[in-house]
Amino acid sequence: MSTPRIEALPNGLANLADFEAHAHARVDANAWAYLNGGAADELTLRANRVAWDAIKLHPRVLRDLAGGHTRVTLLGRELLHPILLAPIAYQRLFHVDGELAIAHAAAAQSAGLILSAQASVVMEDIAEPMLAEPSAGPLWFQLYWRDDRDFMQALLARIEAAGFEALVLTVDAPVHGARDRERRAGFKLPDDIRAINLGGRKKPLDLQPGQSALFDGLMPRAATWREVDWLRAHSRLPLLLKGVSHADDAREALQRGVAGLVVSNHGGRALDTLPATAELLPRLRAALGAEATLIVDGGISRGTDVLKAFALGANAVLLGRPYVHALAAAGALGVAHALRLLRDELEIAMALSGCKTLADAGPQLLWTS
Ligand SMILES: Cc1cc2nc3c(=O)[nH]c(=O)nc-3n(C[C@H](O)[C@H](O)[C@H](O)COP(=O)(O)O)c2cc1C
Repeated sequence: MSTPRIEALPNGLANLADFEAHAHARVDANAWAYLNGGAADELTLRANRVAWDAIKLHPRVLRDLAGGHTRVTLLGRELLHPILLAPIAYQRLFHVDGELAIAHAAAAQSAGLILSAQASVVMEDIAEPMLAEPSAGPLWFQLYWRDDRDFMQALLARIEAAGFEALVLTVDAPVHGARDRERRAGFKLPDDIRAINLGGRKKPLDLQPGQSALFDGLMPRAATWREVDWLRAHSRLPLLLKGVSHADDAREALQRGVAGLVVSNHGGRALDTLPATAELLPRLRAALGAEATLIVDGGISRGTDVLKAFALGANAVLLGRPYVHALAAAGALGVAHALRLLRDELEIAMALSGCKTLADAGPQLLWTS
């Protein structure tokens, strides 16, 4: 098994935000703009964080919390805690070990991992440490649709053979958002980092004069509900959709047999001015009912955020940029430490709110003025 290097942790790391300054010192300006930027005016990027901060908890006291725990059941599997690492592309931009480091960290901290379609490490090397650790969380593979059914079929077979347990089709980014920060920095992938599990890119469609590169070049190849059905029919793995924000789309997804949704605005990187995910989540929960599987991401960096997400109807959460800051700051050990800090904060938040389990976190836990 390939193993990641073990580095010293910087001193004084009390919470996830503390990793950011260390990461900044180690990541070049090109990769930093790619990691931290959002779309356009970055209103949604900021709104995600602001929304978690604006929600106040309304705790109960003197409850018997002995034997409490953070366990949850997700797609039929019991997990020690509800934190998964979000799919983030090209992680070798941020640390030489890239996704290998986060796989070892997730396995060590019983977290789940959703590997990006655009991972920069081969998928089998990621699956190995996760599958070797019985207490590891779920191992899922994120997909972007590629309009080449033979290619997709071979990719699905490889994902299944490697031991991934579910597919997550990202549906909110058929084209990159207008990422000003990235464009100002002139972001470019270095020659030695690529989406190693995907092979070459498909040649763009030939355009006639007057045609739009986006609507005539890219969109004919983008996923629609047809492709959702195709994926369901061509893989035995459960399929989740990431980036559904409208209740009608959410209902349609479930009607088509989708196993769950990731309530996400792509960390503010796709369409700017979308609501914060803390606003989207309760709407979708109300529309879909108690049984639907809803996972939320965007701006989560505190144990109280995770508890609030449960109070708003989440079944699990994804951690995004903060774990990449930890990766850049201190490799596998950094990510493991970040996960441990977040789990500890979650337990503390539960204990101080009178929640013995996450099932106790409902709307009654939130302050309404
Ligand atoms: C640098 C970067 C790359 C990302 N790459 C992907 C990706 O390949 N696939 C995907 O579905 N989402 C991708 N995302 C979105 C994340 O999965 C997640 O939705 C988002 O980062 C959550 O917001 P947060 O960073 O505020 O926690 C990426 C996000 C970042 C910051």
